[in-house]
Amino acid sequence: MPSILLYLYLSLPGFWALDSLSCPSGSHSCLAFITPNPTTLSCPAKDSTWFFQPLFHSFPRKKLVIPEASGDLHLLHTSTERSGTYICQDEAGNTRAVYNVDFQDGAKLYLSHSELEQQPLKNQTVGNSSQWTLFTQWGPWQACDRCGIQGERKRVGLCYARRLEQPELPCGLADLSPQELQRGPELQIESCFVPCGPNGPESTVVLYGTYNLEDNSTVWLSCPFATIYRPVSWEAKDISPTWLQQLSPNNSGPILDLPSGGSRLRVTTSGTYRCYVSRKLVGRFDAAWTHNTPVAHSRSELIRIYSVIEAVMVMAVLLLILLSFIQMCRTKLSSNV
Ligand SMILES: *[C@@H]1O[C@H](CO)[C@@H](O)[C@H](O)[C@H]1NC(C)=O
Ligand SMILES: *[C@@H]1O[C@H](CO)[C@@H](O)[C@H](O)[C@H]1NC(C)=O
Ligand SMILES: *[C@@H]1O[C@H](CO)[C@@H](O)[C@H](O)[C@H]1NC(C)=O
Ligand SMILES: *[C@@H]1O[C@H](CO)[C@@H](O)[C@H](O)[C@H]1NC(C)=O
Repeated sequence: MPSILLYLYLSLPGFWALDSLSCPSGSHSCLAFITPNPTTLSCPAKDSTWFFQPLFHSFPRKKLVIPEASGDLHLLHTSTERSGTYICQDEAGNTRAVYNVDFQDGAKLYLSHSELEQQPLKNQTVGNSSQWTLFTQWGPWQACDRCGIQGERKRVGLCYARRLEQPELPCGLADLSPQELQRGPELQIESCFVPCGPNGPESTVVLYGTYNLEDNSTVWLSCPFATIYRPVSWEAKDISPTWLQQLSPNNSGPILDLPSGGSRLRVTTSGTYRCYVSRKLVGRFDAAWTHNTPVAHSRSELIRIYSVIEAVMVMAVLLLILLSFIQMCRTKLSSNV
């Protein structure tokens, strides 16, 4: 098991304001996202109460417990089972927002890289009695993930369904059978180059991780604050993993995780890995393989050892004081005799 230590330096307000993609006008209360990326649903009222009703189930709606006082619902890890209706109520019990949410399966994400002349998915027609057209609704291109060198940028596409003269719906909210709904969301990548501008504000949050790993094991490093909806890049001593490298037939380097849009990186070699979100450093990870050499003490173990040493020292000092006191009494007694 890797031992993980995280040090939180400073928290940056607003960093958790996650991007979302909303439905087109006409079906305003529906939203679609990609699992397992974190998501925020906003509520116009503070001290709100949230309720959740799963899709196509008659289960009674469930009250959700949220610790934040802002009223918004932060879902840090999402899954397709969390698709359904989310309702927020204010303190007086009035409904303030209703969202029909489709969490599309990140494991079904279709990746295409323009550099390799890979085409995104084509429109598709399914169903025989009531025909649906399934298509991808694209979000905007994100910013280039690196500057001064060739970088990559991505855009997220969500699966939408349209039937004659009806508003389009996220695929999961359309009345499709599992056979009809084989299609998932998409991710498109293209190469980009932007010059480095004057240095922007330094990132105020950097999370550090230390991983001590056993021989031949692999570890997934998770870039803090990264999601598929943001530009993320990784850098090690002499490699900077890209989607283009990963898609080449003989890639042997680290692996970018597809469902999270590269927010996680699988590594198998020792080194220091850094990750950037919107070209700002947010994480640094030291991964070391032990190779059966004596296991290096992790920081927490050292802290534990230091506390033991401290306790021993304090006891030794107390003992010394006691001994000298006894000695003093003895000397006094012997001099009195
Ligand atoms: C795919 O379907 C969408 C929605 O009906 C439409 O806007 C788009 O033009 C179609 N694309 C192609 C290539 O036919
Ligand atoms: C649609 O067609 C398939 C065969 O192509 C058939 O098995 C199925 O029963 C049909 N469904 C409806 C609703 O007609
Ligand atoms: C690690 O892999 C090498 C060859 O790839 C093998 O010889 C060695 O036994 C493996 N070590 C462990 C602990 O599995
Ligand atoms: C992949 O392997 C082929 C031959 O096996 C080689 O020509 C090519 O340069 C390699 N590509 C990379 C990126 O290593």
